[in-house]
Amino acid sequence: FTRCFSLLHSLPLQGSCGIAFDIDGVILRGRTPIGNSPSALRRLYDDSGNLKLPFLFLTNGGGIPESKRAAELSELLGVKILPAQVVQGHSPFRNLLKRYENELIVVTGKGEPAEVMSAYGFKKVLSLEEYASYFDDIDPVAQFKRWTRTTKPFNWPRHSSELAPQIDVYSDRVKAVFVASDPVDWGRDIQVLCDILTSGGLPGKGCEHQPYLYFAADDLEYQAAFSCERLGMGAFRIALESVFNRIHMKPLEYTSFGKPNPFVFQTAGAILRNIQLACQTDDLSGDIDAIHAFRTLYMIGDNPFVDIKGARQAGHPWFSILTRTGVFKERGNHAEFPADLVVNTVEEAVDFILKRES
Ligand code: G3P
Ligand code: MG
Repeated sequence: FTRCFSLLHSLPLQGSCGIAFDIDGVILRGRTPIGNSPSALRRLYDDSGNLKLPFLFLTNGGGIPESKRAAELSELLGVKILPAQVVQGHSPFRNLLKRYENELIVVTGKGEPAEVMSAYGFKKVLSLEEYASYFDDIDPVAQFKRWTRTTKPFNWPRHSSELAPQIDVYSDRVKAVFVASDPVDWGRDIQVLCDILTSGGLPGKGCEHQPYLYFAADDLEYQAAFSCERLGMGAFRIALESVFNRIHMKPLEYTSFGKPNPFVFQTAGAILRNIQLACQTDDLSGDIDAIHAFRTLYMIGDNPFVDIKGARQAGHPWFSILTRTGVFKERGNHAEFPADLVVNTVEEAVDFILKRES
């Protein structure tokens, strides 16, 4: 944090508040900024380009390392976003490093999920695509997929390093599987995940205890570039679980991270506190309890079941703002998970916050 925020050191902060911005359906649709998000974000900086109040992005999306996502957001939005300001669905996977650092793990999802896990420090990571390439005919319809690139056999290690541990997929059991971002090839992934999970981590070799399965989020639907919502990771989880539970005697066991999990909001609060402290002093000792140092933490989201439900469950000091640019498009408030405030766009939300905090 000291290095990331050295440029923001000892800057005036406006009030005791912080903001968490959802991305899909609030800031962007696909790669296109929405709701005047670039100008809304610019209002959070003073004339010298210094932060007026701490903010971060709290998204259930992902697929690339936080550093790359920060660079991409900076380019799309025209403001300087630092990696520490990006919390993605898979960011909490870092906390599992101790458990799986030297174990064989398989990760799937759009983008570069294996690079994400390697960046977190995991040593024996294979993407599901790489893993599947070792097993002839594991996907019986692969030959009909005209888009598939043949990556067989996958070259290990991913990065040239003499210290990279050896992987033998035919004798090393997969200890854990991670769904880091929205899967691209649901059919292949469901087949191969069932192979790994029902066999205990060695496809085709008996039946042992199910390896751990982690999802970065559980969004049933989300707002992408298309006019109505798209099926998200939660929909994939339902598909996998339905099939798994039909072919296996024990029900699927898994853990889902991401919003609305209260842990995610606690972590976001602690990071916002660290950003605030980095801006004010050299004291970076912010922890989970430091969240109470804020009078208000604003969550600006488009999904009542995820963003608003999460902020409501997290309780004080969270204040939820629902926009109409994504999953939620109704006139009034949401019936089951009403937000503290409903606005049309993120620009209106920022306008409200700046007036309230001035
Ligand atoms: O795949 C992304 C989606 O599940 C939600 O992203 O930014 O709306 O939390 P976001
Ligand atoms: Mg969203």
